[in-house]
Amino acid sequence: MLKFDFSFMFEPNVKGGISEEEFSKLEPTMSQLVEEVARERPAFVKVLFDRNLLESVEDLREWILNFDNFVVIGIGGSSLGAAALANALKPFDWNYLSKSERGGYLRIFFLENVDPDYTASVLDRIDLKATVFNVVSKSGSTAECLAHYQIVRGLLEVRGLKVSEHVVFTTDPKKGLLRRIAEREKIVVLDIPPELGGRFSVLSPVGLLPAMAIGVDIKALVDGAKDAYTKCVVLDVWKNPAAMMAACHYLHKIKGRRISVMMPYSNRLYTLADWFRQLWAESLGKKYSLSGEVVHEGLTPIKALGVVDQHSQLQLYNEGPDDKTITFLEVEKFDKNVLIPSIHDDEEISYLGGKRLSDLLRSELFGTERSLAFNGRPSMRVIFPAIDAYNLGQFFMYYEFTTTLMGKLLKINPFDQPGVELGKQITYSLMGRKGFEKMEFPEPVRKVVIE
Ligand code: PA5
Repeated sequence: MLKFDFSFMFEPNVKGGISEEEFSKLEPTMSQLVEEVARERPAFVKVLFDRNLLESVEDLREWILNFDNFVVIGIGGSSLGAAALANALKPFDWNYLSKSERGGYLRIFFLENVDPDYTASVLDRIDLKATVFNVVSKSGSTAECLAHYQIVRGLLEVRGLKVSEHVVFTTDPKKGLLRRIAEREKIVVLDIPPELGGRFSVLSPVGLLPAMAIGVDIKALVDGAKDAYTKCVVLDVWKNPAAMMAACHYLHKIKGRRISVMMPYSNRLYTLADWFRQLWAESLGKKYSLSGEVVHEGLTPIKALGVVDQHSQLQLYNEGPDDKTITFLEVEKFDKNVLIPSIHDDEEISYLGGKRLSDLLRSELFGTERSLAFNGRPSMRVIFPAIDAYNLGQFFMYYEFTTTLMGKLLKINPFDQPGVELGKQITYSLMGRKGFEKMEFPEPVRKVVIE
């Protein structure tokens, strides 16, 4: 199981950390909130126990494995989870390996941003005949996704390829444009449960289909999440990682630490920090409280990479404003061992000889953590015994549960995203979508521009 070290969130380990008294005052509330979430059984929990969803993905295995390339067309919650899985569980050169070197599994590409240079570079590289496109959109109306879908569809048609043989949709089971097109044109389609929000959907077909296509053990992923869930519902806060994470972040927020940095000491886990950023930002950044009061709540998530950002961000974290908590992601056992040879006898370099890169990485994590503690800056660690599907499944569950608890502590709804919707609607208006022509939005009265 994943391990969690909260030592440096607390006094006296870190000056200005959480005191025993502060924590014990919050404990009964935390247990009560855990009980509430367990009782409410949010959609991201239900999805784990819905065998049909997993089977619907498995049913496509044989068809999908006929292809060489898998392209995810989706944005935000419709792609970040799959991207985190691909980066964590597949080697960096995955897309450059031959199919046999990939064990028969597919290369993976993401058409997420509508950056013409990037999109063209992906579409120019792949052989369309050997490609399956997974168009993922809960609403079925997100502009970026629909633009990419049409570009791809146009290309397939120009090449004389049958769309329904190269496209699979993942969308709402009843509503939306993609569902209508799928029904009209007999396109294969997977369901996203109606009450499941994009950023909580990685363990539904949204993340599971791309994961299966690249050979991730999706059963292990789901099992990891289920096992983590059993710990998330433990009422004893000290034994419940999700409750501890929520309580610590909440108590530090009260002390003015509203920024949450996630700092993996692993390149493979870096995209996981992107997934976390979206989860935390969209779920907790809210204008209104549950009772309708204007509160402008939220904790700002930031990502950093250990050790690289020690040489970029750490100065600020140590000596700048005391407004952050840092969460390190530590890996106990890396897949590969790289030994540093002893080449020079000079004292500035000889100490490195004979050590492994992972020893250096770990010492740097330890050094960063202690330097922060020395400066009264709180931190915690999530410890991965290894990077595998089972441990990632746990990570997703712990963070989704923690986010839900944070929503309750902050008294906001973590499952909506009106701020995202507003941006989408203004885009529709600017791009001339019917029904949005008359939308009003602020324009600068006084322009301040340098050309
Ligand atoms: O988490 C969310 O709800 C959002 O980030 C969505 O995932 C994102 O906006 C894409 O939406 P859709 O899946 O409807 O295309």
